[in-house]
Amino acid sequence: MSAVLRLEGVRKAYGSRVVLDAIDFAVEQHEVIALIGASGSGKSTLLKVAGLLEPIDDGQIFLGEQDISDPRVDGDAVRARIGTVFQHYNLFPHLKVIDNVTLAARHVHKQPARAARARGLELLERIGLVDFADSYPDRLSGGQQQRVAIVRAIMNSPELLLFDEITSALDPELVGEVLDLVRELAADGATIVMATHEMSFAREVAHRVVFLDAGVIREQGPPEQLFGDPQQERTRTFLSRVRVID
Ligand SMILES: Nc1ncnc2c1ncn2[C@@H]1O[C@H](COP(=O)(O)OP(=O)(O)OP(=O)(O)O)[C@@H](O)[C@H]1O
Ligand SMILES: [Mg+2]
Repeated sequence: MSAVLRLEGVRKAYGSRVVLDAIDFAVEQHEVIALIGASGSGKSTLLKVAGLLEPIDDGQIFLGEQDISDPRVDGDAVRARIGTVFQHYNLFPHLKVIDNVTLAARHVHKQPARAARARGLELLERIGLVDFADSYPDRLSGGQQQRVAIVRAIMNSPELLLFDEITSALDPELVGEVLDLVRELAADGATIVMATHEMSFAREVAHRVVFLDAGVIREQGPPEQLFGDPQQERTRTFLSRVRVID
């Protein structure tokens, strides 16, 4: 079985600053991966290059069998196969909730409007927000907006979901409802790579935790190992810091 996503020797620099260095990383189907690491360690950059939102300077990235780092690829077609959710500003404020959810289905995947709406309503129903379908995003709480953004990301059955700190802009009482939805997607067999600072969530939901340190994968393993028995001094230092903040 081939990996859903595979990075080989990926290097990314902004100017003279190397942000990702010789990253080798593969994600298997149905795998849930938590990316952890200090601010500036390269988590968002890794998600951006994997989602073809930033070019790389060296190496290769494969989505399934396809080399998506080949400059000749159709970037829009590749991005249409990936569901991406960021920390904030995910929904278009001038579009109703249902139109946010169905936008790509209608315009990128060329689904008939009626079928897209039916599928969008079904997903909104599932997250308990169908009554807001014809509201504008500013009527929803941050947690509700983020759940709509997740539903939009899964609308077209993407091969891969990339989540970047999707709860970090939320008030603490709203975090749980978003994490519940991620938990459900994971249980349904989605393939997810998520940057997170919610260590307890990473421990509970991720199959594998990847610790990024200054653009390098310093250590990775199942959560019980990485959190319970980290092998690297840098990992131990990082974990002791976040535990103090926790
Ligand atoms: N567009 C950019 N131009 C220049 N430098 C950038 C750019 N984006 C990120 N960087 C730099 O790349 C490094 C990695 O940033 P990145 O956002 O990937 O870190 P991160 O691990 O996601 O951090 P955080 O936990 O704060 O979100 C940082 O030093 C950052 O300043
Ligand atoms: Mg980040």
